[in-house]
Amino acid sequence: MNILILGGGGREHSLAWAVKQNPKCDRLIVAPGNAGIAQIAECAALDIEDGDKVATFCADNAIDFVIIGPEAPLAAGVSDVLRANGFVVFGCSEAAAQLESSKSFTKSICDACDAPTAKYAHFTRSGPAKDYVTAQGAPIVIKADGLAAGKGVVVAMDVATAHAAIDDMLGGQFGAAGAEVVIEEFMEGEEASYFILCDGETVLPVGTAQDHKRAFDGDEGPNTGGMGAYSPAPVLTDAVARKALDEIVKPTVAEMANRGTPFQGVLYAGLMIKDGQPRLVEYNVRFGDPECQVLMMRLGGQILDLLHACAEGRLSDVKPNWADDHAMTIVMAADGYPGSYEKGSTINGLQDLPETSSEMTFHAGTTDKDGAITATGGRVLNVTARGNTLREAHAKAYAMTAQIDWPQGFFRRDIGHRAL
Ligand code: AMP
Ligand code: GLY
Repeated sequence: MNILILGGGGREHSLAWAVKQNPKCDRLIVAPGNAGIAQIAECAALDIEDGDKVATFCADNAIDFVIIGPEAPLAAGVSDVLRANGFVVFGCSEAAAQLESSKSFTKSICDACDAPTAKYAHFTRSGPAKDYVTAQGAPIVIKADGLAAGKGVVVAMDVATAHAAIDDMLGGQFGAAGAEVVIEEFMEGEEASYFILCDGETVLPVGTAQDHKRAFDGDEGPNTGGMGAYSPAPVLTDAVARKALDEIVKPTVAEMANRGTPFQGVLYAGLMIKDGQPRLVEYNVRFGDPECQVLMMRLGGQILDLLHACAEGRLSDVKPNWADDHAMTIVMAADGYPGSYEKGSTINGLQDLPETSSEMTFHAGTTDKDGAITATGGRVLNVTARGNTLREAHAKAYAMTAQIDWPQGFFRRDIGHRAL
C-alpha cells in the first residue's frame, strides 16, 4: 500500500512511525513532514488544505490510502474532495468537522441526542450575553464559537472577567471565529481524553490519555497545545469509558448519521469526570497532539489496519490488540513558548538516543540544516517511552531528555504527577 499522511508535527511523526512498522506499508510519503519524519519517510511539499492539489498528488504518486492528521484540512473539506476522486481517506468530511470547528454546533448535537454536557446559551450580541452571565453568576465559561487556535476559551472566576471576555470576543479578538459566543456552566472534575474511531456507524475506542496544558511545572503559566501526555488515563476507568461511549459518543455518531453527515475518522472526546460521571467538554475530529504520540507508542503497526478499516467502513471486522502497558511523552519546547520564541537553534545528542518499539523521540518542529537538526517551532520534540507501569515509562522518557543537548529549550519535570 502506498500511503500519504498529511501534516508535519509530532502527531504525524508518531503516525508515520507506527504505520511504517506494518508490513502492508510499501511507500510512505508525509506532507509536509519534518526533519524527524524525513528519517523514516519521504517528505513532500504540498498545500495540504487544497483538496484538488492533494488529489492530483495522490493520482501522480499512485497513493492507495490517505491519513489526515490536523484539523485544518478536515475543516477545509480535503477529505470530501479526495473521496469524490475515489481515494480511500481516513478523516472526516467538512460537514462532520463542525464537531470541532463550531462549539454551538456540538452543543446542538448534544441537545438533540441528550448527551451529558455543560448547560449553555449562545449569543451574537453583548448586552444579552452579559445579562445572562449576570443572572448565572461565576464561575462561568466563555467560548468563541469557531476555531481560535486553542485560545478561544476563558474560564472566568468572576462576572467582570466574563463580561470582559464577551466584549473581547464579540469585539473581534478572534475575527469571525468570535462572532458568536457560547456561555457554559463551569464543570468541576478531572479532565481526560478518549479517542474513538468511527466509520459512520461502528465505534471502536483506541485509547485514553491525559495531557498537561499549562507551560510550567505545577500546572502554572500560560495555556499551551500540551506539554506532555500519558496513556492510559486512570480516571477513565472501564466503567466511566463505557458510560462515555454509551451516553455521549454513540448517540453523537447516530445523530450525525441521521443528519446525513456521518462521522468517519477519529473522534477525540474531551471529558470532565466527576463522581464516575463523564460529561463532554468538547470534541475534536483528529488525534490530539501530543496524545497521539502515546497512543501510537502503545498501538504500533496495527494502527494501519485499524485506520484503513475505519476508512473503508469495516470497523466491525477489526479489534485493537491491547497490551497492559503505559506510555508517556514529554514535550520539549523552545524558550518563550507559547509566547514568542527564537527559531534556528541547534539540537545535539539526538543521534545517540534509543529508537526502539518502546523508546522514540518524535519531532514536532524541526528542520535539517546541512545535517544539523534545528528547532523551527514552539513545540519541538516529543520524547516518548513505554513501560509496564507509568513509573517505568516516566523513568525511561526522562532519562532520554537528559541525553538531549538543547540549551534553548525547556520541558516540564512533572508530567504524569497526578497519576504517579
Ligand atoms: P475547550 O477548548 O472547549 O477544550 O476548552 C479548553 C479548556 O477549558 C478545557 O480543556 C477545560 O480545561 C476548560 N473548560 C472548557 N469548558 C469548560 C467548562 N464548561 N467547565 C470547566 N472547564 C472548562
Ligand atoms: N493536546 C490537545 C489537542 O491536541 O487539542
